[in-house]
Amino acid sequence: MIIAVDGPAASGKGTLAAGLARHYGLPQLDTGLLYRAVGRAVAGLEDTPGFEAAAIAAARSIDTGHLDPLALSTAEVGVLASKVAVIAEVRAALFDFQRQFALQPGGAVLDGRDIGTKIAPDADVKLFIQADSKSRMERRARQLEGRGVVVDRYALYHQIEQRDARDMANPNGGFYPAADAHLLDTTLLDIEAALRAAVAIVDGVMARKGQH
Ligand code: C5P
Repeated sequence: MIIAVDGPAASGKGTLAAGLARHYGLPQLDTGLLYRAVGRAVAGLEDTPGFEAAAIAAARSIDTGHLDPLALSTAEVGVLASKVAVIAEVRAALFDFQRQFALQPGGAVLDGRDIGTKIAPDADVKLFIQADSKSRMERRARQLEGRGVVVDRYALYHQIEQRDARDMANPNGGFYPAADAHLLDTTLLDIEAALRAAVAIVDGVMARKGQH
């Protein structure tokens, strides 16, 4: 079974994808980490003429076995990730790894922006996670504060809004709900309630398909 989990920044899709992977005993890939690793590799080159070529080279030589989620989780790396994510060759270089992960025997859970539309349009279940910008900012702020980071909520809010705008306008991105995606708004849900809702959707779809 392939489960695609897409949604905007700090929507809780990563936590939900991890919960679904545990629940169904499937491997999980956080595809944002790939873009973050490429973004981090070109930090400092943003306003130079070599930015695009360096990002493409970084994407082509990415070491997918050594992605460090903690080092890649900063807001600054998130912004860099969304800048390299608009480059078509970067997306193309990262495609095969994601596609193969999705197609492994037994299936997988992948989360990102374009899983249901581009990476696994054939996924068994597609979830598109939503939550209003203010609660997404608050969740991300608490996550960062839990790691001892001092957070400027105003700046974080604008950073999230800007990143969403860039991702939605990305002509190469595929960041929109697939026609067969199930929308799940987690604004008013805590992690457990969101996971229960996601499991109910997955079980419902699989039961209709007669496979679960
Ligand atoms: O999900 P996360 O916040 O880690 O993603 C970082 C950035 O990587 C996103 O803002 C987006 O620009 C890009 N991304 C993407 N396609 C994906 C996953 C992430 O374009 N499948």
